[in-house]
Amino acid sequence: MKKKWTTSSIRACKGKNKIACLTAADYATARLIDEAGIPLILVGDSLAMTVLGYETTLPVTMDEMLHHTSAVVRGVKDALVVADMPFMSYQISSEQALENAGYFMKEAEAGAVKVEGGRVRVETIRALVENGIPVMGHIGLTPQSVHQMGGYKVQGKTQKEAEDLIADAHALVDAGVFALVIECVPAALAAEITSEIAVPTIGIGAGSDCDGQILVTHDMLGLHADLTPKFAKRYAELGTQMSQAFESYHNEVTNGEFPTGEHSF
Ligand code: KIV
Repeated sequence: MKKKWTTSSIRACKGKNKIACLTAADYATARLIDEAGIPLILVGDSLAMTVLGYETTLPVTMDEMLHHTSAVVRGVKDALVVADMPFMSYQISSEQALENAGYFMKEAEAGAVKVEGGRVRVETIRALVENGIPVMGHIGLTPQSVHQMGGYKVQGKTQKEAEDLIADAHALVDAGVFALVIECVPAALAAEITSEIAVPTIGIGAGSDCDGQILVTHDMLGLHADLTPKFAKRYAELGTQMSQAFESYHNEVTNGEFPTGEHSF
């Protein structure tokens, strides 16, 4: 029998097994990812762009994230489901973060939450962890700060930026994160952080030396044609297949080829 993944078993993979993670936003996809044996599913706020059609992750609300997290949880048996806290649901105060993280754990039944940011987030993460809410950190390119960063750019390229990211990683581990997403940083820097910290690093555009990898499922399936980041390897072209299916159906209905007797009562 397969074992249910927990924050402790994810943490215990450090230095032993590489961790494959994916995002999901709906029941059917979550179920397939879980059945494939993927141990960690993130209900990423990237669903603002991939599912809801916004230009950035900023507009997605707590209610929308709770709705998607609940659907994902219903599709999952074994994976750990991590809910991404949306922009401005945790930045105002530790109390605000605690209240909103509480909704993810209590109402949506997530197994953990994720917050973006480095040392600035230490107090918030401590408050969550001390109250029994496991937290995944996220440093490097943090999409909720896209306007401050001036676009979706590789982070940590200068010596100062690299030192800042290393300090951020250590501070987040001290604050209690069980894992750390590192997005879009040079591979050598991600490798250095990975070798220095005691919790698994989960890379996205951060090279092969991280303890695990995460991809946005819509990107890896070829479903999000508007944006294809360099790091997003395509494992399928479902967008093309879906377009072909929709066109065939359209043609068959308009030509009277569907339904046939086979599909009638
Ligand atoms: O929102 C998201 O999908 C994420 C991943 C890219 C890590 O934060």
